Amino acid sequence: MAKILKIITDPNPILRNISEPVENEDINDPKMIDFTEDMKKTMLEKDGVGLAAPQVGENIRLIVVNTKDGVLPMFNPQITKRSFGKYWEQEGCLSLPMVFGDVKRCKKITCIYRNIKGEKIELKAEGLLARIIQHEVDHLNGILFTDRAKRIHKEE
Ligand code: NI
Repeated sequence: MAKILKIITDPNPILRNISEPVENEDINDPKMIDFTEDMKKTMLEKDGVGLAAPQVGENIRLIVVNTKDGVLPMFNPQITKRSFGKYWEQEGCLSLPMVFGDVKRCKKITCIYRNIKGEKIELKAEGLLARIIQHEVDHLNGILFTDRAKRIHKEE
């Protein structure tokens, strides 16, 4: 049974590390599959739209993102194309409770990642999904949305 993991909040050095790629043979490991399920459950339970492994204490390049087809785990995601078009929108983060701010992100991206079977997938995303992926990939590089945001504020 999947369990809810503890979410690390800012400030914590784990959130600032550059996370390590996941080796292909480790993707299919039962422990990794369990961990991915735990991340999915944690994200859904906390009403998040995305979650990166460092947020639950693991500096590995794994994110889960909410899509209209369910929660998608992405190993070693790499953004390979970014649109010139960008837009500002308010973001929040489970590691920065109650904090919000406006972040400028690319409207469209192309992303290459490995799925849970270790297969290489190319995904074109736009709008909210593109925004979530950019936010989560930032986590893998030790970047928090507040590093990029304007109008940062707390809501109780
Ligand atoms: Ni976040």
